[in-house]
Amino acid sequence: MEIITDIASLRARLQDEASIALVPTMGNLHAGHLSLVRIAQQHAGCTVVSIFVNRLQFAPHEDYDRYPRTQENDCRLLEENGVDIVFIPGEKTLFPVPQEFQLLLPPVADTLEGACRPGFFRGVTTVVLKLFNIVQPQVAIFGEKDYQQLQVIRRMVTQLNLPVEIIAGQTIRAEDGLALSSRNNYLDNIQRQKASELARNLKKIGESIASGERNFSHLEWSAIERLNMQGWKVDYISVRQQCMLLPATACDSDLVILGAAWLDKIRLIDNFPLILS
Ligand code: PAF
Repeated sequence: MEIITDIASLRARLQDEASIALVPTMGNLHAGHLSLVRIAQQHAGCTVVSIFVNRLQFAPHEDYDRYPRTQENDCRLLEENGVDIVFIPGEKTLFPVPQEFQLLLPPVADTLEGACRPGFFRGVTTVVLKLFNIVQPQVAIFGEKDYQQLQVIRRMVTQLNLPVEIIAGQTIRAEDGLALSSRNNYLDNIQRQKASELARNLKKIGESIASGERNFSHLEWSAIERLNMQGWKVDYISVRQQCMLLPATACDSDLVILGAAWLDKIRLIDNFPLILS
C-alpha cells in the first residue's frame, strides 16, 4: 500500500490505472469504512482511500479540533484490507488559497442536516468535488449512514455531469443496533449504553409504518418525546421520501426515517430506509 500526500505524485501514480474507486473519509476508520473499501475493491482495479478532516464542513463551534485523528491505525487497517493507495493531503495541499468558489446547493441540502448545520453540505460538496477532480475515479463509495450527504452528492454528480458512479454502502451496526460512526468514540460507557436508543426509535417508527400506521407526525412526535424523556435532545426525527427527502405522505412507498439527536454534547445521526410493497 502506498501513502501519498501530494496531488502531483497521486496523479502520476494513477495515470496508468484502468479503473479507480475512491472511498473518501475523514479517518478514524471502523468496520463501516472497511465495508465501503470492500465494495470499492469489487468495482475497480485500484482502490484509493482519502483521509482528510475537512475544516470547511465544520461550523466554528463544532468538533473540528477534537475530531479523532488516528492516522497510524487507519493506515494499518487499510493495508490489512488490501487498499492500494491512501491519499492523505495536508490542509495546504487541498486548500492552497482560501476557497472562494462554492456551489449553490439544491433544496435537498436545505433541510434536516442542512437546517441544523448551515454550511455543512457546502463544505462536504466542495471537498468531494475537489477529491473527484484530483483522483478522477470511475466509482466512489459513500455510506448510507450519512443518507442526506449521499443524496446531495448524487445530485452534484448528475447535475454537474461528473464522470463518476456513486455507490452506496449499507450502514454497519453494532450488536445493539448503534450505527458505527467515528463520533461514537466520544461516548463514555454510560452514553454508549444509551446510544442505541436513537436507532431503536427510528426502527420502531419503521415497524409501525410497515404494519400500516400512516400518521407520520404522530410517530415522529412520540419518538421525540420518548427520546427527550430518556435524556436526549432531539434535533429532528422525520419520515421522508427517499430521493427528494421531502416530508413523506401516506401515498409514498420509498421512505426513509431520519433522526439526529444529542446525548449531552455528542450529536448522533441515523436513518432507516423503508420500502413499502
Ligand atoms: O462522510 C464523510 O466522512 C465526509 O463528509 C466526507 C464525505 C469524507 C467529506 O469530507
